Amino acid sequence: MLSVSKLSAGYGKKAVLTDIDILAMQPGTITAFLGQNGAGKSTLLRSLAGLHRASGTLSFSGEDISHHSPAQRARAITYMPQSLPQRVALTVLEATIGALRASSRDPDAVKRSLAVLERLGIEKLAMAQLDSLSGGQRQLASLAQALVRKPRVLLLDEPTSALDVAHQIRVMRTIREITEEQQIIAIAVLHDLGLACRWCDRLVMLAGGRVVSDGEPQVALTPSVLNQVYGVTGRIERCSRGRIQVLIDEVA
Ligand SMILES: Nc1ncnc2c1ncn2[C@@H]1O[C@H](COP(=O)(O)OP(=O)(O)O)[C@@H](O)[C@H]1O
Ligand SMILES: [Mg+2]
Repeated sequence: MLSVSKLSAGYGKKAVLTDIDILAMQPGTITAFLGQNGAGKSTLLRSLAGLHRASGTLSFSGEDISHHSPAQRARAITYMPQSLPQRVALTVLEATIGALRASSRDPDAVKRSLAVLERLGIEKLAMAQLDSLSGGQRQLASLAQALVRKPRVLLLDEPTSALDVAHQIRVMRTIREITEEQQIIAIAVLHDLGLACRWCDRLVMLAGGRVVSDGEPQVALTPSVLNQVYGVTGRIERCSRGRIQVLIDEVA
């Protein structure tokens, strides 16, 4: 279980997050962090990874890890940043193997890396240079580097933002399957409310540096929350297959 309590963070004198409580994120589930641009979603993920200084408590499996260094946290927590590094002179396979070797001495590193690439449908890109890939392909390669480490906590900052509709589904489905199989506590920052409702167990809606709403999609997402978080007028309906659809009518 992963719990955040009374987390506050900012930049210099500017407060970005205030008293954030997100309790009991469970293994085998995906929690989505949602909110407007600039709401502090990336700051929150970086704070959990120990890459940004924050006050408050982070507890993992009953242990307070708030004072653990990024390196200590990295044993359990893998973080996939929103913007991916440029100019990396490695192939997709080399980068994946490198990510695995950074955390373990698995003798089957090559086999395991290839299996992850296959699972994400990018095995044909194994020998391609990272620099030669499209934005979406780079995002998939970056996800492979995160998944190959078999993290216990997986933090994904906008993992589908550069992907076409087919890859969005493929990636969310794969994250879902792996999260359940390996009992990972997954957290994903998403902008697409449809994807969040379909693939995530829990939505945490952020606005004004605080948690505005937190719960299962059908509970956390209401017209009033949409208005508070995004400043829009919208409806939450069910499609013919019973899935939640979010329809935005107007922007204030
Ligand atoms: N390195 C930084 N220095 C100063 N302010 C920053 C920095 N990074 C982010 N911010 C500010 O913090 C706020 C939250 O940013 P961020 O966490 O990236 O939001 P989100 O991921 O929700 O779009 C924004 O107002 C942004 O301008
Ligand atoms: Mg962000």
